[in-house]
Amino acid sequence: MKWIEVNTYEEMSEVAATIFSKQIQEKPDSVLGLATGGSPVGMYKELVARHQAGHLSFKEVQTFNLDEYVGIEQSSPASYFTFMHENLFNFVDIQPKNVYLPNGQAANLAEECAAYDKRIEEAGGIDLQLLGIGVNGHIAFNEPGASFDAKTNIVELTESTRTENAIYFDDPSEVPTHAITMGIHSIMKAKEIVLIAFGEKKLAAIEKLKSGHITEEFPASQLLNHPNVTVIYGGTN
Ligand code: F6R
Repeated sequence: MKWIEVNTYEEMSEVAATIFSKQIQEKPDSVLGLATGGSPVGMYKELVARHQAGHLSFKEVQTFNLDEYVGIEQSSPASYFTFMHENLFNFVDIQPKNVYLPNGQAANLAEECAAYDKRIEEAGGIDLQLLGIGVNGHIAFNEPGASFDAKTNIVELTESTRTENAIYFDDPSEVPTHAITMGIHSIMKAKEIVLIAFGEKKLAAIEKLKSGHITEEFPASQLLNHPNVTVIYGGTN
């Protein structure tokens, strides 16, 4: 695991954007794994700026998001579909047909989970996966105790995660109880992974990851078994 310590959120965003830009420049038809949340907003802004400056094209890029809530409309302001469009897709030249998020409204959710992993496989697998980390060590919606063997699956959100995500909803009671998420096994298949974390709130999680102890009680720890992970972090001391 490679560790890059940065001083500001902007620096973290820039370092991460450079890794993603290089990936796209070297392989224009890259398959990217993307995350939502506060951590990647700055990186997406930076990628949009690079695209608008003419340095970066998403024309052949395919993207697969980690997760989506179950039971909310794609068009809802709180859906991850909306988040991705408002932060990245609406401002770059990506083709709508190349954008994939798990469908949390599928009539048959079990089928949707299997189909999502299959779609990723058919695209040739994820070249570069972006991750954030929850205060409890979750990655995607894989909460403590989630199996390292899990593929895309339906999960019940913990109270801690529902509380963290309540800022995106008008009322905390509107936070969905379930989500569809890539499992740890699906995430580990990515050829390269970048995890970004900034701020005091993430201190305990980053220290736990650094401690090197691998356990399903701390989902991010499985990343220590991946051969190509970069953690860009800061503001934690
Ligand atoms: C988002 C996701 C989550 C977040 C994590 C950190 O798609 O899967 O695991 O990456 O909760 O969220 P932020 O960046 O908001 O601190």
